[in-house]
Amino acid sequence: MRTQVGIIGGGPSGLLLSQLLHLKGIASVLIERQSREYVLGRIRAGVLEHGFAALMREAQVGDRMDREGQIHDGFFIAHDGIKERVDLKALTGGNSVIVYGQTELTRDLYEGRDRLGGSVVHNVKDVTLHDLQSAHPHVTYRHEEELERIDCDFVIGCDGFHGVSRKAIPKDRIREYERAYPFGWLGVLSRTPPVSPELIYAKHERGFALCSLRSQTLSRYYIQVPLTDSVEQWSDEQFFDELKRRLPPDFASALITGPSIEKSIAPLRSFVAEPMRYGNLYLAGDAAHIVPPTGARGLNSAASDIYYLYHALVDHYEKGDDRGLENYSNKALARVWKGQRFSWWMTTLLHRFPDGSGFDQRLQDTELTYLFSSPRALASLAENYVGLPF
Ligand code: FAD
Ligand code: PHB
Repeated sequence: MRTQVGIIGGGPSGLLLSQLLHLKGIASVLIERQSREYVLGRIRAGVLEHGFAALMREAQVGDRMDREGQIHDGFFIAHDGIKERVDLKALTGGNSVIVYGQTELTRDLYEGRDRLGGSVVHNVKDVTLHDLQSAHPHVTYRHEEELERIDCDFVIGCDGFHGVSRKAIPKDRIREYERAYPFGWLGVLSRTPPVSPELIYAKHERGFALCSLRSQTLSRYYIQVPLTDSVEQWSDEQFFDELKRRLPPDFASALITGPSIEKSIAPLRSFVAEPMRYGNLYLAGDAAHIVPPTGARGLNSAASDIYYLYHALVDHYEKGDDRGLENYSNKALARVWKGQRFSWWMTTLLHRFPDGSGFDQRLQDTELTYLFSSPRALASLAENYVGLPF
């Protein structure tokens, strides 16, 4: 089949781009390796910045997010038995974040695609990218045992960290920067009222913990665990006991526990691939960069890629202006690296590093003391957490 834009990957990046392009009359075909149910079963991000929310509204899929998402004007950092509040609103001159689950947002995007009659193909196999350096790239894949082919002007790789798009770029044309952390996050979703109306990021000598939420009846909790741990090793009871140990006593005693409805371990990684373009292939979102989730930046970094790419493609098709496409990689990477810096910094500030020296620990303590003694340092944290401008 022939289309203008071939999109690989039906996560938030690919869906959002196809929806935005559709509304501008630009045709796309999106292919996704998994079923829709599988994609919607993944529990990931919870915190959105307003730039992301604005794109959802522009894509005409923001109504439920505006109704059900919760505006958060601040969050807590707990350490040494106390909790200190980061007042995002006061520190940023009125900005905040929205707590709305990636699962819900992805559901809204799929419904938006259905409503407009968008072309989304699930359960594809053997996706291969061809002739990316030519003006006529194409993508082949297998669907229900048939070999299919998409001929297009541009291929957009939105297929996440483990996708095929980035790997289609010859090794000598891409540079990868990476830092792996010696721990992961064990996450639990439970149908219980959240322990706090605002998120709590907890630094503790036993390791980091995070109390987050999806609604007034749905809680999302995480604890730092060694990479060698498996989900099976952690019963719900053990998980909540460990979480409580890492929280200040008033939160620990108020925590209501219940059976987990999802439990998974996510490794922590910082990763950037440069450039985010090879011929007529453009990478966006987790396909090009990954952050540890501590700063809640991952999905929000994907959103700025989509914003730049969307405008660049519209300029190409509506005005014949290719400057946006030419500049895409540089512009996207400039913001991506700021998200990387912040996510690495938040991770370093709050986690226990098994191989950290006494010196490292004292620096970590001092960083935290400095943060809460300097309104300017705190304002920098807040500015990054709510999201730097696109
Ligand atoms: P993905 O969501 O990974 O989607 C890629 C899609 O491509 C997938 O559906 C995959 O099945 C598909 N695919 C893969 N290979 C192929 C192929 N060969 N062919 C076709 N399709 C393919 N971010 C935030 O901003 N805030 C947060 O609070 C936050 N919390 C997080 C918590 C956790 C525990 C984790 C793990 C992540 C968190 N993130 C957060 C990061 C966020 O979830 C990701 O950045 C986001 O999912 C990226 O979206 P994407 O569409 O680029 O990639
Ligand atoms: C989540 O709710 O899943 C979440 C929130 C904040 C983060 C990471 C994850 O920094």
